[in-house]
Amino acid sequence: MTAAATPDILSDEFALDPYRAYRQMRNDEPLIRQEQGVPGYIISRYEDVQRAFNDDTFTTANYDWQLEPVHGRTFLQMSGREHQVRRALVAPAFRGRELQEKFLPVIERNCRELIDTFRHAGEADLVAQFATRFPINVIVDMLGLDKADHARFHSWYTAIIAFLGNLSQDPEVTERGLRTREEFAAYMIPIIQRRRDHPGDDLLSTLCQAEIEGTRMSDEDIKAFCSLLLTAGGETTDKAIAAMFANLIDHPDQLEAVRQDRSLIARAFAETLRFTPPVHMIMRQPSEDVKLSGGVVPAGSTVICLIGAANRDERKYTNPDSFDIFRPELKETTASTAAAGHLAFALGRHFCVGALLAKTEVEVATNQLLDAMPDVRLAEGFRPQEKGVFTRGPASLKVRFTPVG
Ligand code: HEM
Repeated sequence: MTAAATPDILSDEFALDPYRAYRQMRNDEPLIRQEQGVPGYIISRYEDVQRAFNDDTFTTANYDWQLEPVHGRTFLQMSGREHQVRRALVAPAFRGRELQEKFLPVIERNCRELIDTFRHAGEADLVAQFATRFPINVIVDMLGLDKADHARFHSWYTAIIAFLGNLSQDPEVTERGLRTREEFAAYMIPIIQRRRDHPGDDLLSTLCQAEIEGTRMSDEDIKAFCSLLLTAGGETTDKAIAAMFANLIDHPDQLEAVRQDRSLIARAFAETLRFTPPVHMIMRQPSEDVKLSGGVVPAGSTVICLIGAANRDERKYTNPDSFDIFRPELKETTASTAAAGHLAFALGRHFCVGALLAKTEVEVATNQLLDAMPDVRLAEGFRPQEKGVFTRGPASLKVRFTPVG
């Protein structure tokens, strides 16, 4: 019997079904030297990816070339106090009282407005008509920007995510990303300048007034901050909502259980993040040589951490390839904190600052969607297909339902 060829993360075959390749990687090739496209080392086992997120030897210097050319410099690239101070500027808006009292009504209103556009139709594409709009509308509202510009925001964050995940170094993707930086700056800088003179009760005004070590942030810094929030908060939650509905519709018993007992939404969200994480890969650059399963990664090289593979590691989960909201390993109460078992929000100092916002958005969306679509099912003949290698989720989700009332 000949050994299977090393999986190629740039191939069409991989894009069609990465999970089969992930299994082979974890079991036979836990460290793969990637020569084509972005050169680096691919890791796939849970313990290795977990270590890459937790161990400060693994720096985020990769974002200097992966994001800075389109965003400008953001706190994702930073470490130590520089990172902490900037993260602390937005963190309160994404958790606790500020989230519950100030932003929960914004989330609920945005959700209802979108569902109103299709609740009487009996049919919808939950990706195009809901998931790609809802999280971005929420963050746009939180920043105090204009939701009427949705089409622009959507095209910008899609271009930024494509730049971030440009594994094959496609020049067109690079060029579109760089153009986005200019377009976004031309849009944002005048708004930032006006908001400095006339602050409101929104997140952008908070950033305009914030002082870091006694100094106000520059327009460019604030613009980069907003670009990060729009991208990180849009693309990811969008894919999480779509994937969660696709997973539940594919498992009618579990869908029914969630419909009957809404406290199970937290479990369904956590299992969706494990089984079909919105972000499948995150990179790191170790500052020293590091020993991982399968060999040593030299200092300064790029490590491609496969969250999608680690979350299905059979060393960590029983029956990892099945979607089961009742699996005993799930810690639904901590699923949106760094104590979560899955790695979908990463770990360590860059653990997703928007995790609780995402959880709140998903809970509100699931409750309202299930109320509006009591017998939601796939449209006749439609099968959802996941798309994407870096970020991944259903490309569309056509459903039918009996309108209520
Ligand atoms: C289900 C939805 C989400 C997923 C799966 C997700 C995933 C992630 C991951 C994997 C990271 C770590 C990146 C790294 O370490 O290199 C991260 C960081 C981050 N996320 Fe999220 N995210 C989600 C929702 C959100 C939302 C709603 C926001 C809010 C705007 C947000 C804002 C951020 C920011 C600003 C960071 C950088 C944190 C830091 O560097 O300290 N995310 N996210």
